[in-house]
Amino acid sequence: MTGHIQQPGGRGNPGPTPSPSPGPGPGPGASERVALKKEIGLVSACTIIIGNIIGSGIFISPKGVLEHSGSVGLALFVWVLGGGVTALGSLCYAELGVAIPKSGGDYAYVTEIFGGLAGFLLLWSAVLIMYPTSLAVISMTFSNYVLQPVFPNCIPPATASRVLSMACLMLLTWVNSSSVRWATRIQVIFTGGKLLALSLIITVGFVQIFQGHFEELRPTNAFAFWMTPSVGHLALAFLQGSFAFSGWNFLNYVTEELVDPRKNLPRAIFISIPLVTFVYTFTNVAYFTAMSPEELLSSNAVAVTFGEKLLGYFSWVMPVSVALSTFGGINGYLFTSSRLCGATAVIMLVGDTYTLINYVSFINYLCYGATILGLLVLRWRRPALHRPIKVNLLVPVVYLVFWAFLLVFSFISEPMVCGVGIIIILTGVPIFFLGVFWRGKPKCVHRFTESMTRWGQELCFVVYPQGSLEEEENGPMGQPSPLPITDKPLKTQ
Ligand code: TRP
Repeated sequence: MTGHIQQPGGRGNPGPTPSPSPGPGPGPGASERVALKKEIGLVSACTIIIGNIIGSGIFISPKGVLEHSGSVGLALFVWVLGGGVTALGSLCYAELGVAIPKSGGDYAYVTEIFGGLAGFLLLWSAVLIMYPTSLAVISMTFSNYVLQPVFPNCIPPATASRVLSMACLMLLTWVNSSSVRWATRIQVIFTGGKLLALSLIITVGFVQIFQGHFEELRPTNAFAFWMTPSVGHLALAFLQGSFAFSGWNFLNYVTEELVDPRKNLPRAIFISIPLVTFVYTFTNVAYFTAMSPEELLSSNAVAVTFGEKLLGYFSWVMPVSVALSTFGGINGYLFTSSRLCGATAVIMLVGDTYTLINYVSFINYLCYGATILGLLVLRWRRPALHRPIKVNLLVPVVYLVFWAFLLVFSFISEPMVCGVGIIIILTGVPIFFLGVFWRGKPKCVHRFTESMTRWGQELCFVVYPQGSLEEEENGPMGQPSPLPITDKPLKTQ
């Protein structure tokens, strides 16, 4: 993605709390910057990346990847390639992270390099598409897994799965809005769910291989294509896999808090991304030791089918642990964006899970690529800038070549999905000019936007956080703050 405006602690990682730096109190005229305490070490950095990446995707995307790849072998290749491209992307982000050492991730870099409009569009697409759509995908994965055992021989009715997803969303939104403590407790418990599910799948997969049950993986079978995939198909397969890898850029939102980022950022990347790629590839390998591609394609909850085939008595473990894991995923997401629940509920009505994954991944890639393009622009514009980490020029170039191919071919294969995504992003342009750029607005427009802001704040129980003095004066994006905080007490979380 992008514009993850998540705080540490979102997406499953109750991370350290930002706190002001120690040091002398503000003396007279001291304009010391309030900084974040550096308390994320290498291990926490790895758990942040891994915990944020691994979620529902590996339980839902294998079907989407396989469907578009046309053979088991190519599907596995797409998973490995997904890890490789993720690694390239994260190396570029490491350079940006230490060259522009601000929290805020891609939003901060794009704003710094391309200016306010680009940054605004990044966040606009995050809030309008990325967050709510990912939330919709994760909650639909949850309901698919819960309902699969109830409808063992068929695909659960779409209405049932949507109703259950919405119920789960509402419950967790309520938990998140009423108690942060419970929200974080839930998180810890549910992270266990995904570890259990994945380690069980991978271990059983290895046992299968050692016992010689790997028919589908023998080269002759693995590359027996039932459909010859076009480049467009491969792009879609890749988008499906990419959903599972999304979230790798999360560490960049907290670089300011990283201990010795010059060393720890690349190390964390070199440890975490290969690990996640290993887990994903071998989970798929395990799936194929248990079932034929046809069986995988006809299953709506592949880990449940896996459990039914191989775990016998213990097959109930799969739906339960995946449900827990996705439940935790939704909770992690809501931790930072509980007010998007309404939007998510609407998005769920728009398309099936796989279409929604295409939306998310396409927009995601657009944003990653724009940021990495920024890396090249920055090198060209400011060659002398101190860059504690400087990746080989080939890394961003290869990434961008791949990126361009991917976007063009996804557009050709799914013009509707990609076109709608781009149009939604572009709707941000007039909003930016009206709301942010146009400083000399007539008084009545100001009054109108202020009353809308106040109304929105009261409706959603939010106020602009009391940040630094500069922030209070200027508001986000250097605008005057919409509302002085405030004569009426407003409830915050
Ligand atoms: N990779 C996550 C999963 O498999 C989903 C995810 C995490 C995500 N962060 C994201 C998706 C950012 C889109 C954008 O569940």
